[in-house]
Amino acid sequence: MTLCSSPNCRWKVIIVTKRRVFSGMRPTGRMHVGNYLGAVRNWVQMQDTYQCIYAVVDYHAMTTPYEPDQLNQETDEMLVDLLASGIDPEKCTLIVQSQVPQHSELAWILGTITPLGWLERVPTFKEKSDMHPDYLNLGLLSYPVLQAADIILYKAEAVPVGEDQRPHVELTREIVRRFNHMFGDTFPEPQVITKKETARIASLTEPGKKMSKSLGPSSYIAIGDSPEQIREKIMKAVTDTGPSSGDEMSPGVASLFLLLRSFGAEEQYQAFADEYRAQTIRYVDLKETTADVVAQGLQPIREKKQEIQNNKRMLEDALAQGRETATALAAETMSEVRNRIGLYNPRM
Ligand code: TRP
Repeated sequence: MTLCSSPNCRWKVIIVTKRRVFSGMRPTGRMHVGNYLGAVRNWVQMQDTYQCIYAVVDYHAMTTPYEPDQLNQETDEMLVDLLASGIDPEKCTLIVQSQVPQHSELAWILGTITPLGWLERVPTFKEKSDMHPDYLNLGLLSYPVLQAADIILYKAEAVPVGEDQRPHVELTREIVRRFNHMFGDTFPEPQVITKKETARIASLTEPGKKMSKSLGPSSYIAIGDSPEQIREKIMKAVTDTGPSSGDEMSPGVASLFLLLRSFGAEEQYQAFADEYRAQTIRYVDLKETTADVVAQGLQPIREKKQEIQNNKRMLEDALAQGRETATALAAETMSEVRNRIGLYNPRM
């Protein structure tokens, strides 16, 4: 608490600094409702209570096979969709990871204090190396080191991510402890923030799996899809042959219910839940209502997206501003890090 600085004013002023938050998303092109309900909607809400830095992590995308033109385009599409979803450059810092060179600089340094054994244990390394056995590269192994650099470059205290990312943030904490132990207290240990309300939406075509673009265009709803496209995809969504007593809801049906609830259609949700229990539900009705609710819920995003696509300056300005803010913060951290670890500093 301090006294207000204007003369004759005796008000006490409480200065509250917002906690700093970092999160990243791989540039997978157009965003789908799984990304939106599972992460981005939460990011949007957090802008008001935290000091947020959000990144499209293109360096991470390079650890699995990719096409250069596609990477560029998918980064652009992801940025447009983030802005359309409500990521507001007035409230947060939005960057493309590779545009702030200190991410890779710090990653190198952290790589020198991270034991190999820690990285070989990371579950995503095992999964991805099984998936792409011909593309086993050093970047894939050190993926979590780059992620640690992303987070601690800004001394972020919290990281909003899904459960699947918890091992990466745990590893970040271990790296932080090691760095602080070896070179003196420098970084806070970041905490995972997972929101219970964030929904894990299933693929429409293979409801046992999470919604993902890799399962094909009819398996996901992009946030920019037209009401007709949304309807067509939802009407074809895989469900089951109908409820029978005592059975647990099948993943496809559960996901339709989840979509209804996530877009705020609580009344319809309850009505269909009653019908489900009474075994009188008709899935065609459930699908029609869900399609309407989703199309309506995405309408403001669709409109905003149109606006951004017609005025690319909005995106350019947001990125220029984000880059400037992020680079300034990053430079400050790096100057401290360089001193701590003994890199040559001619001014000393
Ligand atoms: N690995 C994250 C994912 O696949 C993306 C990511 C990269 C990230 N750097 C980050 C998430 C830093 C949170 C913080 O979703």
